[in-house]
Amino acid sequence: MALYALGDLHLNFQTKDKSMDRFGDVWIDHEKKAKRNIEAAISPEDTLVLTGDHSWGRNLNECREDLEFIAALPGRKILLRGNHDMFWPANKTEKLNSLFEGRLLFLQNNYYAYKDYALVGTKGATFEGPFYIGNNGNVVWDEEMKRRSDKLVRREEKRLRTSFEKAAEDGYKKFIMFLHYPPTSIIETESVFTRIAEEYHVDQVVYSHCHGVSRFDDSIRGMNNGIFYSLVSGDYRDFKPKKILD
Ligand SMILES: [Fe+2]
Repeated sequence: MALYALGDLHLNFQTKDKSMDRFGDVWIDHEKKAKRNIEAAISPEDTLVLTGDHSWGRNLNECREDLEFIAALPGRKILLRGNHDMFWPANKTEKLNSLFEGRLLFLQNNYYAYKDYALVGTKGATFEGPFYIGNNGNVVWDEEMKRRSDKLVRREEKRLRTSFEKAAEDGYKKFIMFLHYPPTSIIETESVFTRIAEEYHVDQVVYSHCHGVSRFDDSIRGMNNGIFYSLVSGDYRDFKPKKILD
């Protein structure tokens, strides 16, 4: 029994115009590669957390085949919301959980158990700029865009806290925290998300969303203040799920 994670499958079985092939060799037939790698690594008793950006479909109808593809993969599948998951409005998590009962689990404002760990998480939010070099050589940005981003961060902070609080109420003391967005932006060394992770003494933070070699170092990877941070975006992992826990 093991816990795995992988993000950003960006499936497009019903939205052929959204092919990822143009983003480089790593994305060519990436869904076949992901399926092959997941089937090779994961047994029915394992858990796989898919950290968002599952489908390009603009609504549930356009995502049917993508979600069926995920449901047919081995193991217990837990899905996190990504920024492209239009089929999953924030207030529809319970509906999705009942629609896919026994096949897929949707993680938001709730948690799932893995052995004595609680798997908690939310989409997260990171201000991605653009950043500019100011007259004094300092980094500057659009304040209005930053204000909008801060609002999203506060909303996601609330969702993450709900996830932790529900797990803590049920007696969980060990946590693995999942985010879609990286926990910090390229100019931050900490954020509300890293502070919550430290407050709850989580063992690991797992995130995705960063695509392309130039973005893989955008946030924290490895040990940081006693917590292990992993990037599991599909192209970073060459679509091989990462083992998080035995
Ligand atoms: Fe994303």
